[in-house]
Amino acid sequence: MTDTGSIDRPAETSAEAAAAEALSAALAAQGGDLPPDLLVFGEEVPARNRQDWSRQPPVRPLALARPRSTAEVAAVLAACARAGLAVVPQGGLTGLVRGAHPVAGGVALSLERMTGVEEVDVEGATMIVRAGTPLHEVQAAADAAGLFFPLDLGSRGSCSIGGNVSTNAGGNRVIRYGTARDQVLGLEVVLPDGTVVNALNRLVKNNTGYDIKHLFIGAEGTLGVITRLALRLQPKPAALDVALCALPDYASLLSLLSALRARFGPGLTSFEAMWDEYLDTITSTFELRRPFAAPHRFYAIVEISRFGAGEDARLPDALGELMEEGLIEDALIAQTEREAADFWKIREIVGDLRQKAGPLVSYDIGLPAGVTDRFVETSAARVRAQWPDAMHLAYGHLGDNNLHLIVRSPACGTDQPREGFDRAIYDTVREFGGSISAEHGIGTTKRPYLGHTRSPEEIAVMRLVKRALDPDGRMNPGKVLEEEG
Ligand code: FAD
Ligand code: LAC
Ligand code: ZN
Repeated sequence: MTDTGSIDRPAETSAEAAAAEALSAALAAQGGDLPPDLLVFGEEVPARNRQDWSRQPPVRPLALARPRSTAEVAAVLAACARAGLAVVPQGGLTGLVRGAHPVAGGVALSLERMTGVEEVDVEGATMIVRAGTPLHEVQAAADAAGLFFPLDLGSRGSCSIGGNVSTNAGGNRVIRYGTARDQVLGLEVVLPDGTVVNALNRLVKNNTGYDIKHLFIGAEGTLGVITRLALRLQPKPAALDVALCALPDYASLLSLLSALRARFGPGLTSFEAMWDEYLDTITSTFELRRPFAAPHRFYAIVEISRFGAGEDARLPDALGELMEEGLIEDALIAQTEREAADFWKIREIVGDLRQKAGPLVSYDIGLPAGVTDRFVETSAARVRAQWPDAMHLAYGHLGDNNLHLIVRSPACGTDQPREGFDRAIYDTVREFGGSISAEHGIGTTKRPYLGHTRSPEEIAVMRLVKRALDPDGRMNPGKVLEEEG
């Protein structure tokens, strides 16, 4: 351990040198032993910490902090407060809205060293976990204890549980278990001035005043840094039955959803929809085997969870009946975990499309299910009126009213007209009574359109909360809300 004031700092400009000096001095002034590798400065900040998965142009911050404990997070935040520096929390950097991009001249604070499950209470079905823990480790720890952590996203190997909670992530099982918010019983958070707030409640019922955890869930790091979480665990399903269904039209897709809800109730744990252009593009781009010989208009991945060890699979009979009724044109039921993974691959490999196809713009829209098909047609027509060659892929978590779009004009190459796409699509979202984000958040990429989805009064209340908790406007500035002048 050394005095952090002695950290070697290659600084690029005199202003940066002064800011780095102020930060180091403020840390040193707090006393106590801090590890010499707590901060790196300037060009030593690794490339991976300069941007998130939105792949917007990278930003090099003044410094990167990688604390190993809540006390170190508090020390960094208190020092930043004293030095007047902005702080941007970073988890797994899989966010898609530029929320974890550093700000120039500020400090990026990564939770990547704050990992690990601290405790699993099997009887109480709860877990205490550090915020930087990758989601798949949380899932594995629950599984090892004979329980189940239901939050699940394609980025599970890289995203952190703190990032999931900060974005109120959704994913594949919201239809049954809700979003990240619904999995959180309590949390520990460090405020912008360095105050540690222990709100690690583990009780399912606790009506004792304002439930402050909800302020930080979905706040995208604009109100404080979440350091630990108390999570609620679920009973582990005895088996998961997965099927891929092919449907002739959108009305049949909605009827399938209703029929499965009616037959399986809470046993229906995923319902993912894919439009034909999506499946055609994904299978050809990634050279995946087409699941059905004939083309179909819509596809759905269905997951049914069985709980009692003796409970028989009812999905084959149900799908057989629905096929006889003419609702489903064809269906495949996974016979092995490998086959189930192959179905899911068609849905999840889309995260790699950018690497194969080139720059693209992705959307995360909330819409009433009844109008989603009409929305897709209108949006595609409006985009193609301006960019006739545009790819417009539609898919998403239809069971929870969440549509994703991927839009790309091959003719525009590396210079995709993001603002033009945004205007066409978000104006259509507003007309259809939807939300500009169902699960990814606002970050900066959607900030200009917040007013399409939230009323002026709601935004004013958000500002009041922001000012109360972050009066200097240093916590992830410019994310969600515009900075105040
Ligand atoms: P980051 O990207 O590091 O940060 C996200 C935001 O949270 C930033 O604003 C950051 O400042 C803040 N933040 C991070 N950690 C903390 C903390 N400890 N305290 C305070 N603020 C913090 N999202 C879905 O909702 N559903 C999906 O199905 C889904 N699928 C995806 C699939 C792929 C292939 C990819 C690449 C992304 C997907 N996402 C999905 C988006 C992304 O994975 C989620 O938003 C995820 O929750 C982000 O977690 P992270 O740890 O990577 O956060
Ligand atoms: C998905 C991400 C984009 O569901 O949210 O694939
Ligand atoms: Zn999604």
